[in-house]
Amino acid sequence: RDTLGDLAAARHKYLGSATDNPQFADAAYLKILGKEFNSNTAGNALKWYATEPQRGVFDYTLSDQILNFARAHRQFFRGHTLIWHNQLPEWLTSGTWTAGELRAILKNHITQVVRHYRGKIPAWDVVNEAFNEDGTYRETLFYNTLGPGYIADALRWAHQADPQAKLYLNDYNIEAIGPKSDAYYNLVKSLKAQGVPVHGVGVQGHLALQFGYPTSLRDNLQRFADLGLDVAITELDIRMILPADDAKLATQAEWYGNVTKACLAVRRCVGITIWDYTDKYSWIPAFFPGEGAAHPYDENLLPKPAYYAIRAAL
Ligand code: XIL
Repeated sequence: RDTLGDLAAARHKYLGSATDNPQFADAAYLKILGKEFNSNTAGNALKWYATEPQRGVFDYTLSDQILNFARAHRQFFRGHTLIWHNQLPEWLTSGTWTAGELRAILKNHITQVVRHYRGKIPAWDVVNEAFNEDGTYRETLFYNTLGPGYIADALRWAHQADPQAKLYLNDYNIEAIGPKSDAYYNLVKSLKAQGVPVHGVGVQGHLALQFGYPTSLRDNLQRFADLGLDVAITELDIRMILPADDAKLATQAEWYGNVTKACLAVRRCVGITIWDYTDKYSWIPAFFPGEGAAHPYDENLLPKPAYYAIRAAL
């Protein structure tokens, strides 16, 4: 066997893909997902709207489908995500909550979900996208009601529910050194100084050819590692303005190779997750109109130059 997952494992890393429940109807897709990758994550199934659709009513049907597949294929698994301002259930966003009520809701959500999967989900994105581009706190329901302390509380509750799980803060546009990644650097440094259980920083890695390669990626990963944290590339995709052409696909391949090399160069970079491995199930065209072709396999599940560049880097 000589898959991306095998090559990554030989380098003591994982190379994973996100997936989502509709993809389970596609046997050809699943075959590659199970064979080529040694890590997996749920693109949506562990978000709050899915796991607690009604207050106090937990549903693990969708997440179990993905986690069971991962377990059957001996894949590592990342839990994504416990707290985020998007894809929240309607009951939560439509309510008006006192700080005391919201705190209890948050604690219960984290405790229930993490405890349910204790010992089965080794790494969690506890808080997703907590900062704005300028490094100020994003004014979410949680921040506005509870203040910045919600992050430390969430980490403590998750740690209590599964003391073995690695707990991450995760965000986009923190690949390079800059105001937003600086905000994480300062936050995790101070959390660690206070003894708050935080173990990793997840760099999403939603890159776009038109914005340029984040050349400080490797140094940025290294500075987090130097604080005693794990780092991971958690949602890698590299989009382009359509139509794709050979030149763009070649640049994309080079970037996939460079991200892979950046992770390999940092001992505490534990692995890379591609935000679904194929253009066939890309989230990009719906969110960035006119852009796409972001993944290492094309719409026919055939490997692109990016796939071979990842291999070559591993
Ligand atoms: C995306 C999913 O891929 C889509 O299917 C969904 O409609 C919206 O969310 N950052 C994140 C991910 O942390 O959870 C997002 O996933 C992509 C951006």
